[in-house]
Amino acid sequence: MISKSAPFITFEGGEGSGKSTQVDILCRALLKGGVDVVNYREPGGTRGAEEIRTLLVMGDGDRWTPTTEALLMSAARADLVEKRILPHLKDGTWVICDRFADSTVAYQGYGHNLGYDRIETLNNFTIGKLKPDLTFIFRLAPELGLKRAALREGVENRYEHLDLSFHRKVEEGYDEVFKRNPDRCVAIDALLDIDLISQLIFKEVKKRFNI
Ligand code: TMP
Repeated sequence: MISKSAPFITFEGGEGSGKSTQVDILCRALLKGGVDVVNYREPGGTRGAEEIRTLLVMGDGDRWTPTTEALLMSAARADLVEKRILPHLKDGTWVICDRFADSTVAYQGYGHNLGYDRIETLNNFTIGKLKPDLTFIFRLAPELGLKRAALREGVENRYEHLDLSFHRKVEEGYDEVFKRNPDRCVAIDALLDIDLISQLIFKEVKKRFNI
């Protein structure tokens, strides 16, 4: 059993879906309401995991084999879980993560065809019994998401450069995550207005965790 005394909430979705903006909005709303909360992004969140992130999000699409990529994502996650997420949850601090293990199912399991079962085995090894209590999955047609993502500046665009068929498979992966975890997952229509999305999210969080 994982000993934890605070909620663990994750945000998932394809490229350009607006989830990172909503992570910030939710955190600010919770802090304002007196909730002790921290947020992380994956891959990342510790010095080592940020170093691994630079290997993953920059450079050519074929820089890593799918298996190497899944293992690097998991290595970064293990560092974040052991050094930050578990200690915070144990202390009663809420944790919000911009991406977590479902991203590996969607991107490496489906996008790169490693399959659900192989990634589930890897995730079980990496995070053990730690599961998010609530996951928001942002849904957006990949054609549109990629267009939105292309407007962002920066060099972290290795996945954005992968072809549309990869991103369509990522969406299928999220469908499967949703189907297998209907109680944990809430789908968010990423085309809705930003304020409306943040209200829907806050309402769901309040309902689930009695704040
Ligand atoms: P971000 O753009 O949401 O910060 O995420 C970085 C990229 O890493 C994004 O394109 C999705 C990808 N990714 C995976 O492929 N597998 C994973 O397990 C995670 C956490 C992210």
